[in-house]
Amino acid sequence: MRKDVRILLVGEPKVGKTSLIMSLVSEEFPDVVPYKVEEITIPADVTPERVPTHIVDYSEAEQTDEQLYQEISKANVICIVYAVNNRKSLEKVTSHWIPLINERTDKDSRVPLILVGNKSDLVEQSCMETVLHIMNKYTEIETCVECSAKTLKNISELFYYAQKAVLHPTGPLYCPERKQ
Ligand code: GTP
Repeated sequence: MRKDVRILLVGEPKVGKTSLIMSLVSEEFPDVVPYKVEEITIPADVTPERVPTHIVDYSEAEQTDEQLYQEISKANVICIVYAVNNRKSLEKVTSHWIPLINERTDKDSRVPLILVGNKSDLVEQSCMETVLHIMNKYTEIETCVECSAKTLKNISELFYYAQKAVLHPTGPLYCPERKQ
């Protein structure tokens, strides 16, 4: 049994990483957020899987690449956040974030990834089609979710999926290359 879970949020500036963390913790949308919140630890008894969970924010404005690489190597699961109203932030998931994470993690013990489309309150149409293509291409992506820090939609689900990806990974069971 694992003793704790470490969740890291990465993604382009302003997609809402800090807002997602603060919405989870305070159960309301913060109007003003700092670039980065300090690491938050959620005690075991209030997490769905009963395991202490650390949530780690990232901000390009406040951290060096070296600090980011260190956080990537310490993480048990990484949420790559994009904003559903910002195509560029989704493009960067495949052009920048996934390659960067793969370079920095051990090939045999790849860290599960979760694709998080935030700001779902701002669009009618979801990006799910593009996201499903990305998921088919990269087997290290455990799951995807669209959510809104503003309306709190799917916020607790997002962190539950992240915990679950570490505690009950589906990775080894699902291997498209071998599927008959
Ligand atoms: P950096 O610190 O620059 O990396 O940004 P970040 O990814 O932490 O984003 P942040 O939480 O600072 O949010 C950026 C802006 O988006 C802020 O003005 C937030 O109020 C807004 N925002 C965040 N989440 C949502 C959301 O779900 N819906 C809407 N409408 N706005 C949001």
